[in-house]
Amino acid sequence: MSMKSKYLWMNGELVEFEKATIHFLTPVAHYGAGVFEGIRCYATDRGPAVFRLREHIERLFDSALVFGFRSLPFTTEQLVSAVKETVKANGFTECYIRPLMYLTDGGWNLNVDTGKAGVGIAVWEWNNYLGEEAQEKGVRANISSFTRHHPNVMLTKAKISGNYANSILAKTESVRLGFDEAILLDPQGYVAECTGENIFVVRNGLIYTPPIMAILEGITRDSLIKLATDLGYSVVEQAISRDQLYVADEVFVSGTAAECIGLREIDFRLIGTGKTGPVTKALQRAYHAAIHGDHPRSMEWLDYVG
Ligand SMILES: Cc1ncc(COP(=O)(O)O)c(C=O)c1O
Repeated sequence: MSMKSKYLWMNGELVEFEKATIHFLTPVAHYGAGVFEGIRCYATDRGPAVFRLREHIERLFDSALVFGFRSLPFTTEQLVSAVKETVKANGFTECYIRPLMYLTDGGWNLNVDTGKAGVGIAVWEWNNYLGEEAQEKGVRANISSFTRHHPNVMLTKAKISGNYANSILAKTESVRLGFDEAILLDPQGYVAECTGENIFVVRNGLIYTPPIMAILEGITRDSLIKLATDLGYSVVEQAISRDQLYVADEVFVSGTAAECIGLREIDFRLIGTGKTGPVTKALQRAYHAAIHGDHPRSMEWLDYVG
């Protein structure tokens, strides 16, 4: 994967790829003092369109609020435009978009108020986050030996850069063990989420997903709940135990990077038939249509780059 592009947007202007640098002594690099987003832009008949852009930028501001930034250099409107400007300047028809709001110009004494927020936006071409065959065949996961954050320790509603040390620990361990993804339990022992995805269970025609208390409120999660409801499925938000995963008909995960991917095996136990199941497939089709402008929901969810 190459993260190369012609330009990044840095604090109000487009700058060449090589010039988009921040200093070694920027607190975000040492303490994870920043908040970020992951967004995707897709090809449609009307040109490139960013999926649920406003909701992502609103979540970025929510993350900044949770983290404690009190004065921000840009508005939601400005960052929505900046994302589109960056995609356009690079000429991508499909890309991943990474805004980061980071603590700079101070903040060394662990006090947000002694620094300022800087903002950058990168875009790059990035497909098949969980592998080329994931969509079709599903992937293998295990329950991580690491626990997901308690919401009063790391504030799981916010995409705070430092929170992702937990994801890195879990993902690295699972991949070294030969799995594709890690499932993390919350401090009470119930299923929380994966390292960069939310999780769903299908059993006897009903869809279950953990409640939002201890997880990131995924925008893909929200999109799939709406698409599932459109298709006539009921989605129940309730605590899920590890063994509920084992006996599920289907388990799938959702995220901007991964999109909608089935888990064919968890902890060496085959899930359902061991193939991407019919509910997961129906949701993959609906999601694919929605992101490419071919679904009744596309109108409200796509922001055309123009
Ligand atoms: C921990 C975590 N959970 C869930 C998600 C899925 O969120 P979304 O669908 O908004 O990308 C992500 C990805 O951003 C994540 O990092």
